[in-house]
Amino acid sequence: MSREPRSKFIFLMIVILFLIIFVGAIVTSASAAGKGDAEAGKKAYDAKCTMCHGTAGKGDGPAGASLNPKATNFTDKAKMTMAQRAQQ
Ligand code: HEC
Repeated sequence: MSREPRSKFIFLMIVILFLIIFVGAIVTSASAAGKGDAEAGKKAYDAKCTMCHGTAGKGDGPAGASLNPKATNFTDKAKMTMAQRAQQ
């Protein structure tokens, strides 16, 4: 009977250890997700979006000008505010 409290203590320590690892993993992945990756985003934009939206995002890419409606100008504040509101 004298060994029982000790094994309970060890069990509790193991549970606490796993909790710390679990919470740590959640916090780490959450902070990584919040940071984003501007460099990777620029690469993806340059590769897939500039042909229509232009390198500066003004909707003046070579393919965008001939479209109807034209490719959106991301620097047009009024337009982008409307787009943002529509998503909410
Ligand atoms: C083939 C040409 C083309 C390509 C490539 C393209 N777009 Fe567009 N995009 C358009 C056009 C045209 C519109 C405007 C559509 C409209 O006004 O109905 C638009 C609109 C948008 C809008 C505004 C949507 C809104 O709610 O007003 C966003 C944001 C956008 N594009 C992002 C992107 C991103 C990010 C990429 C690259 C991954 C991309 N586009 C690639 C043609 C293109």
